[in-house]
Amino acid sequence: MGLMSMDQPQLLSKIATGDGHGESSSYFDGWKAYDKDPFHLTKNPHGVIQMGLAENQLTADLVQNWIMSNPEASICTLEGVHNFKHMANFQDYHGLPEFRNAVAKFMSRTRGNRVTFDPDRIVMSGGATGAHEVTAFCLADPGDAFLVPTPYYPGFDRDLRWRTGVKLVPVICESSNNFKLTRQALEEAYEKAKEDNIRIKGLLITNPSNPLGTVMDRTTLRTVVNFINQKRIHLISDEIYAATVFSHPSFISVAEIIEQDTDIECDRDLIHIIYSLSKDMGFPGFRVGIIYSYNDSVVNCARKMSSFGLVSTQTQYLMTKMLSDDEFVERFLGESAKRLAQRYRIFTGGLVKVGIKCLQSNGGLFVWMDLRDLLKKPTFESELELWRVIIHEVKINVSPGCSFHCSEAGWFRVCYANMDDRALQIALQRIRSFVLQKNKEVMVSDKNSKPCWHSNLRLSLKSRRFDDIMMSPHSPIPQSPLVKATT
Ligand SMILES: Cc1ncc(COP(=O)(O)O)c(C=O)c1O
Repeated sequence: MGLMSMDQPQLLSKIATGDGHGESSSYFDGWKAYDKDPFHLTKNPHGVIQMGLAENQLTADLVQNWIMSNPEASICTLEGVHNFKHMANFQDYHGLPEFRNAVAKFMSRTRGNRVTFDPDRIVMSGGATGAHEVTAFCLADPGDAFLVPTPYYPGFDRDLRWRTGVKLVPVICESSNNFKLTRQALEEAYEKAKEDNIRIKGLLITNPSNPLGTVMDRTTLRTVVNFINQKRIHLISDEIYAATVFSHPSFISVAEIIEQDTDIECDRDLIHIIYSLSKDMGFPGFRVGIIYSYNDSVVNCARKMSSFGLVSTQTQYLMTKMLSDDEFVERFLGESAKRLAQRYRIFTGGLVKVGIKCLQSNGGLFVWMDLRDLLKKPTFESELELWRVIIHEVKINVSPGCSFHCSEAGWFRVCYANMDDRALQIALQRIRSFVLQKNKEVMVSDKNSKPCWHSNLRLSLKSRRFDDIMMSPHSPIPQSPLVKATT
């Protein structure tokens, strides 16, 4: 192959050759480490346990049972095949009217039936991922920006920025007030952007929060609505985790603020909700994303743009049948919350036993784990160093706070709903063992006045994996009966 001359035209676009996707971040690196060596209870028991994926697998059995009891809801069964031709041909980008009705009703149900949604404002999209991009295309031009409170879901860097040319400006939230969004933080970020000649077109919030697992209280939501109205900018509220809230305080949608809090002024044209069935129902593979905008022009434009990422009619059909079954939905949501609460209790309880704290939360599919005490120094370099130990030695894929644009080093997001009970127990055992080992190292280093427990830990683990230590009859940690029964 010859040398390329300087004036040779670039074969691919700047977008195609740039790194706007963000695939090189530690968030995705963790997934790659898992892909190379995935844990399996019997086939690969020393592999990496995936705790970096916010997936809800706890209720798959309920859905499976429903599908078996409702064969007519699938078009590839004897009972449903008569609808095959119609479904295979339907391609209207408005979507099936019954589907929009069912989704509007479900959105209302997941918000405690305290608000209603108009089916004509439901625009579908390829997951919340597609919904965010379409919304960004509708609201902003290249170079414009959205404010986003930190820490935030790393996918936003791809979804809102990559192909649209839109920027994201962080609004710094801190652990001193449990990462609560404040008016002051909003004003500071807005003013800073102005100084930098960046035009702010909107504010993007995630409620319940990924990665915090917390819900926004009414006062904060009112502050947010006030702020965006005063600045005349849009509010995008990502409510994809609405039904993952498993205990008090309950989730409050921005829809409730604008419908019920009549004492605050709000231009509805500025409000847009992003929703999806990926988390609440556990269907990320179905790619059911929703844009619900109170702005007619946004609804019209987004609908046209949705042609690039529609939900297949087969999926719409199945979802219509399932979400219209009130009895099933009621049972599903109740059971889902119960199982998530139990997982949260088991996981955080296990962490507390070895002195690991998490931000108190009541939603999402993850916890925000505080490992600040385990850092050599309070820096992101130290955070990544610790993260590499956790991935390669403890063999758990957790996501470091820096990949969520957290402003403080030492926080990690750990997902707990994408695995079965046995894998969770093994993950907990590995974490406990890691901390015990670390404490031992600190004791030794205290004696020798050598505070570098990380490097000691790595050396000591080379010859003996955590699993080996934990599975040993001499393990200091009592083994779960669940694990014992299967190993
Ligand atoms: C806050 C948030 N928004 C959007 C998405 C994307 O969801 P979807 O699978 O529906 O595209 C995720 C996925 O993790 C998320 O956490």
